[in-house]
Amino acid sequence: MKFHMPTAIIFAQGAISGLGEIAQGQLHSSRPLVITDRGIIGSGIAEKAMSQLAGAPVFDEVEPNPRHTTVDRGGEIARKYKPDLIIGLGGGSVLDAAKAISLLVTNPGRIEEFEGREKYRLPPIRVLAIPTTCGTGSEVTWVSVITHTGRKFKMSIKGPRLYPVVALVDPDLLVTLPRRLIASTGLDALTHAIEAFTAKPATAFTDALALEALRLIFRYLPEAYQDIQKNSAAREKLMLGSLLAGMAFGNSDVGAVHCLAESVGSLYDTPHGVANAVFLPAVMEFNLEAAEDKYAAIAAAAGIEDKTKNGAALGLIKKVKGLSRDLSIPAFKELNIPEEDFAAVAQKSFDNNSNRSNAREATAEDYLAILNRASRGH
Ligand SMILES: [Fe+2]
Repeated sequence: MKFHMPTAIIFAQGAISGLGEIAQGQLHSSRPLVITDRGIIGSGIAEKAMSQLAGAPVFDEVEPNPRHTTVDRGGEIARKYKPDLIIGLGGGSVLDAAKAISLLVTNPGRIEEFEGREKYRLPPIRVLAIPTTCGTGSEVTWVSVITHTGRKFKMSIKGPRLYPVVALVDPDLLVTLPRRLIASTGLDALTHAIEAFTAKPATAFTDALALEALRLIFRYLPEAYQDIQKNSAAREKLMLGSLLAGMAFGNSDVGAVHCLAESVGSLYDTPHGVANAVFLPAVMEFNLEAAEDKYAAIAAAAGIEDKTKNGAALGLIKKVKGLSRDLSIPAFKELNIPEEDFAAVAQKSFDNNSNRSNAREATAEDYLAILNRASRGH
């Protein structure tokens, strides 16, 4: 049994005010480059960081489902500037782009040449990751997911040198997060924890992290959604849940929900958290026969009481559906996936590397059945 997570975590309300000291004092950086997106610039969060970084350049062109062309462009800028630290400030898309760009600084070539595990030759430069959503987990994982728009495929670029050197996690950065993003990224975190806990590579280490993440997310996501500005306890606990879930799936894996979400994300640019939320209940129903014990354990952590394991597991699925409804997650039909594409989406999901980790073995036909089930709103 192994557990590896070399990232130093600083978790505190207001932690962003220590960024300058961490970058310059602890990490001895004199040439940081900031990777972010326009939403973060507009929210005022970037200003909190930039005011401590003495004129550091900013690449703010990262889009949701970050594209290989954007990462290559960021890589070119970074190679010219020769930073000694990449600071990723944003949600999962930004953090994944920051990791990918850190690799391009030291390694010649385009990002698609590094798809897979440890394909880089030289160590990437260091990344300091500052998450601004309650879902990604990317601040504590070794993977960067980049969309190849030509191939309509989400590439996984990973390796032990891609863990951020520091994760600076400040729950107060969630104060300006729009409600629909609290919902979608919160449900991404919930999916990370459920899939990590039920995936085949799960260990006692990842189980402990996932269960605590689930306890926190079930308890505090609805409260944070109601009023994240005023409820500092809820945003702190939700951010902690998201972080623990990231540590869990980083050392276990995700499963069929992410296989489907990555497929539709690469084909239709569907936001990652929304796609996960839409598919989670249908996949849980499919996995039930293989994961009943684990679902019952999650149900207990979520405060669901039932005399039988089956009753508790079914109660959990009901709770997940109710949570999606309460958080106004769009219905399957709003994703606009044409029915004639279902077979292709199913095949793409089956081909995903994480499919083999799913709690229950899933064939392409199984994925097709899950899609049909989700489309009927069951
Ligand atoms: Fe995810």
